[in-house]
Amino acid sequence: MSDIRLAIVGVGNCASALVQGLDYYKNGDKSGLIQNEIGGYTVGDIKVVAAFDVDERKVGKPLGTALKAAPNCTPWFTRDLSGEGVTVLMGNILDGVAAHMAEYEEDVSFRPSSQESVDVVKALRESKANVLISYLPVGSEKAAKFYASCCLEAGVAMVNCMPVFIASDKEWADKFREKKLPIVGDDIKSQLGATIVHRTLAQLFAERGITVKRSYQLNTGGNTDFLNMLSQDRLKSKRISKTEAVASALPAEHNSKLHIGPSDYVPWLQDNKCCFLRIEGEGFAGQPIELELRLSVMDSPNSAGCAMDAIRYCAAALDRGLSGPLEAPSAFFMKRPPVQLTFKDAQDGMEEVLAKPMLSPVKG
Ligand SMILES: NC(=O)c1ccc[n+]([C@@H]2O[C@H](COP(=O)([O-])OP(=O)(O)OC[C@H]3O[C@@H](n4cnc5c(N)ncnc54)[C@H](O)[C@@H]3O)[C@@H](O)[C@H]2O)c1
Repeated sequence: MSDIRLAIVGVGNCASALVQGLDYYKNGDKSGLIQNEIGGYTVGDIKVVAAFDVDERKVGKPLGTALKAAPNCTPWFTRDLSGEGVTVLMGNILDGVAAHMAEYEEDVSFRPSSQESVDVVKALRESKANVLISYLPVGSEKAAKFYASCCLEAGVAMVNCMPVFIASDKEWADKFREKKLPIVGDDIKSQLGATIVHRTLAQLFAERGITVKRSYQLNTGGNTDFLNMLSQDRLKSKRISKTEAVASALPAEHNSKLHIGPSDYVPWLQDNKCCFLRIEGEGFAGQPIELELRLSVMDSPNSAGCAMDAIRYCAAALDRGLSGPLEAPSAFFMKRPPVQLTFKDAQDGMEEVLAKPMLSPVKG
């Protein structure tokens, strides 16, 4: 039996939650998962074989140690992983580290290593990785494209959890198709987060004949993702991704006044994300309807369930010879998929992926 051999780019909070989750769920516990088995793969079939980062407190360290290193702040909910046998390799920094990080205390911000980058393609080949997951910081346009190119060269499928548009960009989608590699992207949704709650409620307004006149979704958090997003320059694609995810659930005439995005960095919140949501609508005979909601989640564990499933759909697609962007899994798990689908259409599309005949299974 062979496993899904996973490479991780960005050993931050989301990677910590994912790797801890692989340990937490390896013995078959199902509570808290979206799906237990996908295309024959359980969570226990995902093995991390390579990891890349650029922070001096993570590079050269065993993965389990690096996942606990500052500035990571997501809760530790599983056993000690330091003996897993993967050492974090120096990646290519490019635009991964925002300049304003240097102005903040080192326990909450990035500290780039001065080491030379390894040959990422060679490292991917040597590790025999078949799926790479990208957890780069928002705004890392060059770095995101660099690692996507490495996937293409090394023959590795990709799950793009960050909002640089690769799966949803035609040129990049074609490159993955040409190399016969599947990709799920872009910008991972949380399992039950602000995007899915906002989308569902907005859709409910529309379905009940209420016109959505105005809405905001203000998000606050205290992890490095929120610190990084203080830079408005880095934020453009994140705003597009989050706004489109809600706008696509509404008829066009409802979309004019949506204000959605990361709103502030509150250090003491750490990995706790709080979303403040308001929807103003007009109902029968133009009468007003207002809804206010506060959602509090642990940000990084909340994305790990979706990531585990996206990884397994990539492996299932490799088994079936499918390539390019996987539309239904991308629509289900990502904020900015190539095509936005309703929940039901995305679920049906995912079943169709698994119903395709197998070629040469990753899992033998
Ligand atoms: N629920 C969620 O937390 C959630 C949801 C949707 C999307 N995302 C996105 O996922 C991404 C990761 O989020 P996170 O909370 O883990 O961020 P994080 O800040 O905790 O981790 C990012 C990691 O990337 C490393 N890094 C920076 N530049 C690099 C480079 N060039 N090469 C390799 N590593 C590099 C950093 O050192 C850090 O360890 C972000 O883009 C975020 O917006 C997160």
